[in-house]
Amino acid sequence: MLHHPTPDAKALGASLPPGFLIGTATASAQIEGATTQGRRSPSVWDDFSSQPGRIADASTTAVTADHYHRLSEDVALMSDLGVDAYRFSLGWTRLQPHGSGPLDAEGIAFYDRLLDELLAAGISPFVTISHWDLPVEYANGWLDRDTASRLGEFAGLVGERFGDRVDGWITINEPATVTLNGYALGLHAPGQALLFDALPTVHHQLLGHGLSVQALRAAGVRGGIGITNVHSPVVPAGGTEEDALMAGLFDVVHNRVFADPVLLGHYPQVPEDLAGMFGAFAEVPTEDLAVISQPLDFYGLNYYMPTLVAAGAGTGVSPDGTSEAMSELPFRLEAFEGYPTTGFGWPIAPEFFATALAEVRDRYGDALPPVYITENGASFDDRPGPDGQVDDAGRVGYLADHLSTALEAVAPGGVAEGIDLRGFFVWSLMDNWEWAAGFTQRFGIVHVDFETGTRTPKSSYTWLREALTARGRA
Ligand code: NOJ
Repeated sequence: MLHHPTPDAKALGASLPPGFLIGTATASAQIEGATTQGRRSPSVWDDFSSQPGRIADASTTAVTADHYHRLSEDVALMSDLGVDAYRFSLGWTRLQPHGSGPLDAEGIAFYDRLLDELLAAGISPFVTISHWDLPVEYANGWLDRDTASRLGEFAGLVGERFGDRVDGWITINEPATVTLNGYALGLHAPGQALLFDALPTVHHQLLGHGLSVQALRAAGVRGGIGITNVHSPVVPAGGTEEDALMAGLFDVVHNRVFADPVLLGHYPQVPEDLAGMFGAFAEVPTEDLAVISQPLDFYGLNYYMPTLVAAGAGTGVSPDGTSEAMSELPFRLEAFEGYPTTGFGWPIAPEFFATALAEVRDRYGDALPPVYITENGASFDDRPGPDGQVDDAGRVGYLADHLSTALEAVAPGGVAEGIDLRGFFVWSLMDNWEWAAGFTQRFGIVHVDFETGTRTPKSSYTWLREALTARGRA
């Protein structure tokens, strides 16, 4: 195991390349609350979180971090921090109640204010159009091809309305997690456990991405356009051929089916004995692939951890929870030994961040546009000490090691040399509602008391501010 020394804030700040963008990231369903404000209509996550047994602590999307009412305070926190950029998502049903028709004036007013306050603070807005919160009216969600067209329409509307003020557009966020957790394992909204029958959701999300790119370009947006995929290097648990085959399969369903069509214009080749599982892709019209693979201005990459895969059914534990459906798969996910873990139990293994970048460079080469790390971070059980301060040394270590690993990987002589890495967004600005884990996993560099909404910057916030100051930006 490789060890990266944790650089101090000043050294890290000084090592940031000129122009390298540092930001924080959030998503609408995880921070805004105010789910019945104005004409806003329910999203699939409002619905899912109100079903008994779905969320670890039975919490819902109703209030979360109350950002809807604390927007200015949150922008001020970022301004004091000195970040260059902020990635947030648009609440689909806040802007387009019931998922059809024109944008709602009150929804527009909220995001207008957010964009204007960010710009006034000198913070560059990066906007995710779809971060998992589909309107409930889309009955079969991403199983329906029509949902792709709906996303395209929504992208056109928000592009026209906000396109003058957004620097980076992310069409969809982590389609892999939506397919896997939402439709294959039933751990996320809409709670379907279809295993390999979830595969049509891959194509429909990617088509939604492509149609959104077209709609944004037609709307004449001035910012760059990209997608965000999560990448997790896959390691076979043992030395057997079966383990290698199943690790390859997981790599295909988690990484390659989402990246290859976007960057190469075709679905990945799979070993012949697995081809049956991928029947869903055999029928894909070539015109769709042309839409999906339109040139992008950037590629958004999220990295959290590597995945260890063994052949044979297992106990059904995935990184996001326990799913009975998972025990019916021909493989199981195993825990990495010898690594420290986050609050979620995820292995802290920054060297695999370099592996992820190297894989992307090797697989996509010249087809890869400039890259932003659109998320990286860790959950820990942070609590205020007797003095009210929140000391999250574990997160400081995690972020410092991961950011420096990524920078080294793409530097001359690094394992991913050649990638044009433009920036890094910390997940997350503040503690928030972590989907099926509810409030049990805190990812923020700002602590949120979910009873009162009170924000308290953690030591990771102070550390990041010091690093940002050290690179010469006041
Ligand atoms: C990726 C998702 O985009 C984000 O919403 C989530 O909170 C983080 N991973 C942590 O699980």
